[in-house]
Amino acid sequence: MKLERIGILTGGGDCPGLNAVIRSVAKPAIAHFNATVIGVMDGFEGMVEGRNRELTPIDVSGIINLGGTILGTSNKGDPFHYPMGSAPNIRIVDASDQVLDNYRNWRLDALIAIGGDGTQNIAYKLYGMGVNVIGVPKTIDNDLEATDITFGHDSARAVATEAIDRLQTTASAHHRVMVVETMGRYAGWLALGAGLAGGADIILIPEIPFSWDRVFEAVLKRSKGAKFSIVCVAEGARPLGGDIAIKEVDKKRTDPVRLGGMGEHVARNIEEATGLETRVTVLGHVQRGGSPSPFDRILATRFGTVALQAASRGEFGVMASLRSNLVVTVPLKDAVGKQRLVPPDSQLVFAGRTVGTCFGD
Ligand code: F6P
Repeated sequence: MKLERIGILTGGGDCPGLNAVIRSVAKPAIAHFNATVIGVMDGFEGMVEGRNRELTPIDVSGIINLGGTILGTSNKGDPFHYPMGSAPNIRIVDASDQVLDNYRNWRLDALIAIGGDGTQNIAYKLYGMGVNVIGVPKTIDNDLEATDITFGHDSARAVATEAIDRLQTTASAHHRVMVVETMGRYAGWLALGAGLAGGADIILIPEIPFSWDRVFEAVLKRSKGAKFSIVCVAEGARPLGGDIAIKEVDKKRTDPVRLGGMGEHVARNIEEATGLETRVTVLGHVQRGGSPSPFDRILATRFGTVALQAASRGEFGVMASLRSNLVVTVPLKDAVGKQRLVPPDSQLVFAGRTVGTCFGD
């Protein structure tokens, strides 16, 4: 298999560990395969618009601990639904031929696409058009199928856990209810993981619609004992019979819906219904920024090196994946088209319930 020119891009929302993957592909590609590594700028947007830069060993040195991505990223660059023009005259066009043209003009032998569900979906479609693509799964939400975990999730969960720890001391001092809103659009892994690790009293996730009465009962009960409560709410949580909280719909985005506001809604309703003093903290993009955890640095490095090995074998249309502690490759088609949600009867939920956590049901 000819592996002289390898393209690499980071797509969708950023997360800690992207640079660690770039490093783990570029270093051995240059050192062992004598290949040229072409960094595509700003995800698939750069593939459509023809923006790239060659990565040298110096470019990828000292970046394993760096958050963000040295290549830039975008969640508005889906080539199959590519936004042209500016509001209110946005036209959505199919620009996938431009991707193919650039792929050929740049003489790429392989393209490594690092990203979440949106990016892997695009990668899979491009594979169908003849692009030698290999996916690497990232996202703080951990909602990608066909891998036990995505990189970025562990780092975000650590940030959210630390936030809960800090909120707990002030909640206890003031005998307050503290509501903390985490990210997590459709899957509650982040709120569940941080909530369990931080000992939250109530955890509300998209997969378990909550009853307002159950939530009010739980905080009132706590107010008579410990005299404070921590409520960890995923941004995508919703009450029984109610809706998710949408902040904005932006047609340019690969996923047009931007969430936000459920934490505020929960805090306001708790205060009104129970009379308990309540505050809300929205963690937002703080969870996506900063240095990757050691776990994510190592996982990212394993993913990148396995992706490169697959490219060297001429194995395409696959994604690096963690399966029972081993990084392997899986067909991209197994990773796309559905989300990996928290099973309501999972051991994590069971563990929470057993130690007295209320899930609002
Ligand atoms: O998918 C990752 C994620 O961080 C979600 O948890 C969140 O809803 C979304 O991206 C936020 O997107 P943006 O950075 O475009 O506001």
